[in-house]
Amino acid sequence: MCSPFPLAQREGCEVRLLKIESLSTHFPTARGLVKAVNNVSLSLERGEILGLVGESGCGKSMTLLSILRLVPYPGKIVGGRIIFNGSDILEKSPTEMYRLRGKEIAMIFQDPLTTLNPVFKVGQQIGEALRIHGLTTQKSFLDRYGPKKSLAEKRRVLELMEEVGIPSPPIHYQEYPHQFSGGMQQRALIAIALSCNPQLLLADEPTTALDVTIQAQILALLERINREKGTSIILVTHDLGVAAEFCQRIAVMYAGSLVEEGPTTVVIERPYHPYTRGLLRSIPRITGDRKKIEPIPGSVPDFAALAEGCSFAPRCEQARAACRRERIPWQQISAQHRVRCLYVS
Ligand SMILES: Nc1ncnc2c1ncn2[C@@H]1O[C@H](COP(=O)(O)OP(=O)(O)OP(=O)(O)O)[C@@H](O)[C@H]1O
Ligand SMILES: [Mg+2]
Repeated sequence: MCSPFPLAQREGCEVRLLKIESLSTHFPTARGLVKAVNNVSLSLERGEILGLVGESGCGKSMTLLSILRLVPYPGKIVGGRIIFNGSDILEKSPTEMYRLRGKEIAMIFQDPLTTLNPVFKVGQQIGEALRIHGLTTQKSFLDRYGPKKSLAEKRRVLELMEEVGIPSPPIHYQEYPHQFSGGMQQRALIAIALSCNPQLLLADEPTTALDVTIQAQILALLERINREKGTSIILVTHDLGVAAEFCQRIAVMYAGSLVEEGPTTVVIERPYHPYTRGLLRSIPRITGDRKKIEPIPGSVPDFAALAEGCSFAPRCEQARAACRRERIPWQQISAQHRVRCLYVS
């Protein structure tokens, strides 16, 4: 499907921006092998926003970190392909990866305060990627922001701060991360991520630590960036409600594997996987019928001791013997909607 965004139209739709095929990232641990990302296949069109949803510990961050080849030790990508703009990220040299990270693919990491360096001013940190990727020495950059390198860089940083809604940029430029509120820290991280105009933005729970009003502002900001610049976004969230509002497509993850994937309206209105249904029932609502929140019984399984068959079976009301025996294949519900459950109804 071609995306409705201008960038997509300019660049054509022949090559998908991102295609992940059978990606597996494992952690050897004392308790056994943890398959944090287990055979995950995903794709993303240019200009699209995809939501990657699932409970804490299901492998969302490891999927994003695998895309940038930043999986922490002792984790290792053990299989699969990550095709970005037609070439495999897993085959790139360290120098090529260095050029790609932050420039073509940027990530907003899960915890803003630990991502920002406490001893450097926020303005300096926003300018760092510009310097690293040599943008501040490019003629077009200097033509636009002025001939003096340091002043041109500062002008661009102030522009970025303005763009992401940081008030009084010249004042906040001089401040340290601890002087920023949680929402402002998140905006600073978004400014860092946007500094080199990446084609793909990986946003790992960008709103989790924020109150609901700031959460809405940050999501609106990401939506504007997507609309105006055509930046593709993978939004990781444990909140299906957030994904439903913000994303065009949703992929649901459970215990390292994807279990359902489809256009947002379809997944929300007609979810097939019992886990997706459970997630939907556990979203709090303040309008409409007063319904009790129904938590999904049980908890995320021990990754080092996953049973055969469907990992969700121990928590699933519909599970039958076959669910615990067989490897569950994808069932195609419609052209774009697929689910990994033996008993789709
Ligand atoms: N350093 C590590 N050593 C061993 N296992 C790890 C390590 N880091 C992550 N894991 C395993 O990878 C799994 C997936 O972790 P990940 O951080 O991707 O989860 P997540 O879905 O992002 O969770 P959250 O919503 O809490 O951020 C975890 O359940 C854990 O078992
Ligand atoms: Mg995470």
